[in-house]
Amino acid sequence: MAPLPQESLFGALEVPPYDEVFALMAAFAADSSPQKVSLGAGVYRDDDAKSWRLNIIKKVEKLLWEDSSFDHEYLPIPGYQPFVDAARELIFGTNSPVPKCRIASLQTISGTGANHIGARFLKDHLPRLSPSSASSSSSATPARKIWLSDPTWANHHLIWDLVGTSSTGSPLKIAVYPYYHAPTRSFDFEGMVQNLEANAQKGDIILLHACAHNPTGLDPTRAQWQEIAALCQRKGIFPFFDSAYQGFASGDLDNDAWAIREFASRGMELCVAQSFSKNLGLYGQRVGAFHLVCHTEDAARRAWSQMVELQRGEFSTPPSYGARVAAAVICDPAYISEWKQDLAVMSGRIKAMRHALYDELRRLRTPGTWEHIINQIGMFSYTGLTKEQIKTLRDDYHIYMLESGRASISGLNTKNVKYVASAFDAVVRGTPSSSTSNGHGH
Ligand SMILES: Cc1ncc(COP(=O)(O)O)c(C=O)c1O
Repeated sequence: MAPLPQESLFGALEVPPYDEVFALMAAFAADSSPQKVSLGAGVYRDDDAKSWRLNIIKKVEKLLWEDSSFDHEYLPIPGYQPFVDAARELIFGTNSPVPKCRIASLQTISGTGANHIGARFLKDHLPRLSPSSASSSSSATPARKIWLSDPTWANHHLIWDLVGTSSTGSPLKIAVYPYYHAPTRSFDFEGMVQNLEANAQKGDIILLHACAHNPTGLDPTRAQWQEIAALCQRKGIFPFFDSAYQGFASGDLDNDAWAIREFASRGMELCVAQSFSKNLGLYGQRVGAFHLVCHTEDAARRAWSQMVELQRGEFSTPPSYGARVAAAVICDPAYISEWKQDLAVMSGRIKAMRHALYDELRRLRTPGTWEHIINQIGMFSYTGLTKEQIKTLRDDYHIYMLESGRASISGLNTKNVKYVASAFDAVVRGTPSSSTSNGHGH
């Protein structure tokens, strides 16, 4: 064989940083310390720090294997229809004022895939309605913006970034709206509303976390959601809900879908990316759905056929097994009741761990205020610890969390919570930058 050339066509490629959460998981797995604690990935762990197969999932999987109609055939392009129908009902409610014929729904590759299909679809098919474009012959239509909360799930940035420019060549820009008020460690409602009021344009898109905001664990109140809905209506901003924690956040499926239902009941067109990773514990099975609410049945049918075409070109048909398992639960009211008990176990344990961490920090008289740990909801706490403190936690205590200070509370358990609290206490008191910090600087 002739000697290989020294240079490759790909030799000048840039190497983007590996995703922080997955890098942290790998570092945690490689750490041999018996004391190690993972507060990184957003996955549920039981009191023994083990992954937990929900009781209802164990039950339906057994039944599925005994079901002679269960096979490994391809699903249709839009997915397993009983799953898609039940998923839609779960998010919009049984008494939704929006008839199902006005909702274009399809199964996706979990919540991430739903976010992606939604982003791609809207990029190409959400019309530009800025006041200038209706009348003017000017070619300089301002770029459409997708508004993301600051901060947000890091993958939102990547998903929208990769979607890029529309097929008609008009650019799509990522913009951020204030969400977190660091000094009070609370939701910055005023900042959000003022910023959008001043800067968002008709035809822009806003990404909203349906519940249990990732990473802050801070959600708007119902009254604030109503104001956000009114603002979107008034300004013509298209709402894109990301629902990754329905039932997992509060333990109540209806409560965690309240904001979406409120927007839908106002007669707004909107979309929802729905994940079943956390609430059914089906992380690796990639179970999700995308729903687009339209004003007319005809529009929903047209939009649906465009989305079906997108899926065909991207991955042909979604994965079957997880959708069959999920459908076995969510299509059956008796199993939904059993599922609710599992949801109560998960959300209850997380709440208990928030309190345990908080109580221990109080007992240790750790400098700073820590109420936010018990006031935030869902999988995460935005602790307010600094980057240096996070690094010390990892280097000296084998405790792994994101640089932003986000801690996945489900990594805590009755055996490690005192250790974690004492490590927090030590880094807050002893960190080199502690001269100005109360442990919550950002
Ligand atoms: C806000 C948010 N959206 C979407 C997802 C998507 O998760 P998956 O693709 O596993 O369903 C996650 C998972 O962590 C999330 O936190």
